[in-house]
Order: sequence, then structure tokens, then C-alpha cells
Amino acid sequence: MVRRYLGVSPGRGGSGRLIRLASVAALAVLALSLSGCLDESPQSTAVIGGEHNQRIWDVYNWLWIGSLFVFILVEGLLLYAIVRGRAAPRTAHGRPVPVHGNTRLEILWTVIPAIVIVLIGIPTLTVLRDLSSTPEHDNTIKVDIVGHQFYFEFRYPELEVSSTNTLHIPAGAMIDINLQSADVIHSFWVPRLAGKTDNVPGRTNYMWLIADEPGTYAGQCAEFCGLGHALMRFQVIAHEQEDFDAWVEEQLAPPTGEGDPTIGEQLVTGGSCAACHAIEGTAAQGVVGPPLTGFASRPEIAGVVENTPENLAAWLANPPAVKPGTAMPPPGLTEAQIQHVIAYLHTLE
Ligand code: CUA
Repeated sequence: MVRRYLGVSPGRGGSGRLIRLASVAALAVLALSLSGCLDESPQSTAVIGGEHNQRIWDVYNWLWIGSLFVFILVEGLLLYAIVRGRAAPRTAHGRPVPVHGNTRLEILWTVIPAIVIVLIGIPTLTVLRDLSSTPEHDNTIKVDIVGHQFYFEFRYPELEVSSTNTLHIPAGAMIDINLQSADVIHSFWVPRLAGKTDNVPGRTNYMWLIADEPGTYAGQCAEFCGLGHALMRFQVIAHEQEDFDAWVEEQLAPPTGEGDPTIGEQLVTGGSCAACHAIEGTAAQGVVGPPLTGFASRPEIAGVVENTPENLAAWLANPPAVKPGTAMPPPGLTEAQIQHVIAYLHTLE
């Protein structure tokens, strides 16, 4: 039967293999598409990390179960029509007699889709309303998130601290977010935690999120914003409350003026710096940015400001603020880490 439908005659050599190959290919495609749902995918919305994402999934599941019901109903009616249609009265040419103007049927198939739209619309609008205003919560933290080409800046107006590329939050807290942009349209998206919302120049958009469990959540700018868009990644680190408080305190502490060059070396040669910069005799062998060998004896930083510890600290906190248009994004170092990195770079004679 299958062979006949596929248009393959049974006797011809190799046709059985063709069918087997087609089956294997179909299974592979199915497995690949299902693998997108695996828990390990850091950017899968199917892994629910908090209430915002949960609310979206509630609507999705409602739609999915409803669609399944509609699918079974429509396919059932189709099968019924196919079977019953064989016995229907025929015209002189052997075709089924056409049916016109069944008022009851026409009302029915107008009313049913209208009911379906209402059943989809009510839960969708309810969730949209709930996601557009902050729910009451006993631990709420305000964060202003500013999109830049090509990084996100996180400002905590009430705590008077800020960071780039890494959003630090306490697990279980309500994060009350204002979204802005310094240049073009970006879109703030942490797939496991919340739906995406745009950062639009000249206006403030709003969203909230909660991370139920401590951990690291991958984020990505989800609106094409220029050549660096694909690399505009960031992470959300949900801490235990006391670890978050310690992070805030560390940010608020004045720079000690002295760092540990050994820690600095680990940060530079073992971290993201090494992806772009090379330092002779170390693991850092990047070629995108200028080599840092002999950095301490250079008169200037990036050719624009004098090579002093203060200028270097400003540069490491936010390179584009010192040299607009530089390809170097803010490395996302804490104040203390910056001091360690400065101490290390000044050993590179
Ligand atoms: Cu910012 Cu894409």
C-alpha cells in the first residue's frame, strides 16, 4: 500500500532502501526539532525560570490544547465527509450533487470561530495586562536597562550602583525594569525568565521579571541593531540575597588604589580579554584588539588618553565613554577587579 502511494513499484531494486532512507531522514528531522526543547539549551523558553515566563507558557499551553481539540474535530469531520460522501447521490456525470445555502450550517461555522477567538483573546489579554504592571511584592528592585551598540548597561537607581553585560539580581525578588536605548532599537531578552521587550530611543518601555532559583541565565539582544548584534549577549546572575547584598557593597566600596597583579593576570589571560588581546608568554593570543605586551611603557591608552591608573580605570569601566566608536565593549569588571587588572597591566614592561 505504502509503496503504491509513494509511486514506487515493489519489484524495482533499491526502492525499499529509498523508503528506509526517507524514514530515517524523517526521524532525524523530528529528533532535531525536538532537541530544541531539551533542558540544556541555555536560550530555550521551554525551560521556565520564573513567573513571567510561566504566565506566557500558561497561555501557550491553553492554545496548544485548544488547537489539538480543533484539529481532532476538523479532521474527524473530514474523515466522516470522505466516508459518507461515497454514498451521496450523484449527478448524471457521476459527480456528487452540489449543496447550496444550508443556513444552519453557515451560522454554525461563523459562530464557532468567533467563540474560538474569544477563548483565545480573554486569556491572552489578561496575561498582557498582568505583564505590563508590577505585581505587589515584598522585595522589589528597580533596574534601568539601557541598550547601547553593542552591550546592555544596568543601572540600579535606588542602590546607586551599575554594571554592564551582567545583570545581578537576588533570586526570588521582583525586578521592576525600565528599558531605554542610547542609540538604536535593541530588545532585551532572557528566554528562560521573560518575554522580549524592545529598548526604543526616546521612550521608556516597561517589564518585570523574577528568577525563582539562584543561577546564571543567558540573555541576548533580540532586535537587529548593527554589525555587533549577534555578539550582544549578556547574562543574568541570580544570587542568594546575602550574596547580592555583598555584590552591591563591593560596588559601593571606594577603589582601594591597589590591586593584586596575580588576580589581575588570571582575569586578563583566563577571561574574555584574551579573546581579543595577545600578551607574549601567556595564554592570551587574541588578534582582534591591539597586543598588550609592553603596555606599562606605552604613553597612551587606546591612543587617546594618558596612560595613568585613573584613566585606565575609566577605560576598563566603559571604553566607549572614553573613545566613542571603539570596538571594545565594557568588559563587565567590578571595581575591585578593575584594580587587579590595572596592577597586572602595569607589570607588562
Ligand atoms: Cu542590540 Cu541587537
